Amino acid sequence: MPNNKITELFNIQYPIIQAGMVWASGWKLASAVSNAGGLGIIGAGSMYPEILKEHIEKCTKATDKPFAVNVPLLYPDIDKIMEIIIQEKVEIVFTSAGNPKTWTKHLQEHGVKVVHVVSGVKFALKSQEAGVDAVVAEGFEAGGHNGRDETTTFTLIPMVKEKITIPLIAAGGIATGRGMLAAMVLGADAVQVGSRFVATPEASSHQNFKEMVVKAQEGDTKLTLKELAPVRLLKNKFFEDVQKLYAENPSKERLIELLGRARAKKGMFEGDLEEGELEIGQISGLIHEIKPAAEIVKEMMHEFEAAKKEVSNL
Ligand SMILES: Cc1cc2nc3c(=O)[nH]c(=O)nc-3n(C[C@H](O)[C@H](O)[C@H](O)COP(=O)(O)O)c2cc1C
Repeated sequence: MPNNKITELFNIQYPIIQAGMVWASGWKLASAVSNAGGLGIIGAGSMYPEILKEHIEKCTKATDKPFAVNVPLLYPDIDKIMEIIIQEKVEIVFTSAGNPKTWTKHLQEHGVKVVHVVSGVKFALKSQEAGVDAVVAEGFEAGGHNGRDETTTFTLIPMVKEKITIPLIAAGGIATGRGMLAAMVLGADAVQVGSRFVATPEASSHQNFKEMVVKAQEGDTKLTLKELAPVRLLKNKFFEDVQKLYAENPSKERLIELLGRARAKKGMFEGDLEEGELEIGQISGLIHEIKPAAEIVKEMMHEFEAAKKEVSNL
């Protein structure tokens, strides 16, 4: 496909970005996607600084193509994480869950391209003002932590596109070439794909979780815990426990107590499908098979080109 704003910005072949995901996207997944012509992202959100350093070094050895690191800005050791990113000469950083003003300039002064993830028009504008190189607009369908306004990808992308001039990446509910074409027709320059890449051999998530993602059907996920940080996850025993607690009109403290520590690790990394938190998007209902990341990229591009021809007959 011809170059566009995003392929040029990141120097990649295809406008497919593999989302940074806690407990899923380490160096193996990121380098596989980058080698396949997309942009792979290491998810720093579940890594201690020294672990992140190791992943960056391994990724650099596994690919000579560009890759990125995703940093949720509420991370406790943020200074150390940013120091490592600069030291290791990471070229692209995707920030999320925080104020884009805090780190953008500093990273850019060190030659890093910065993309910020938002879930609404107001924050897209704030990101543009902060000088980011591109924005990811993530809709209500998406797996993992999400916005409070429940704006779907289908409505969010054209609304953000109307207001910003910098490159726009669509996320939430995209797992196929058709979905990618739809997002680009709505105004996106590229897509960020999360859930689909969880069901790959290269994802570091537990096999039990991957198999549950493949079995998931329409209606099996829900956005919950809005009082803390809204998160879309699979309905399992932990989810039912949260629902039971809601029936008692709980304080925020009681919700925090139920969530406890390391729920996400327990579910997605250790494979405890009952007690763990299993973050995944609505599009899991369309994911039927665990398959290599490179195959996903190839199939998406193939379907994208075929669908483009098909719609020209409409
Ligand atoms: C298992 C999982 C973990 C995630 N972790 C993060 C994260 O650490 N940082 C982040 O910015 N987004 C995170 N997300 C959101 C993704 O980056 C991405 O925007 C989202 O998955 C896109 O929607 P989709 O799941 O429908 O493809 C996560 C999503 C999933 C499914």
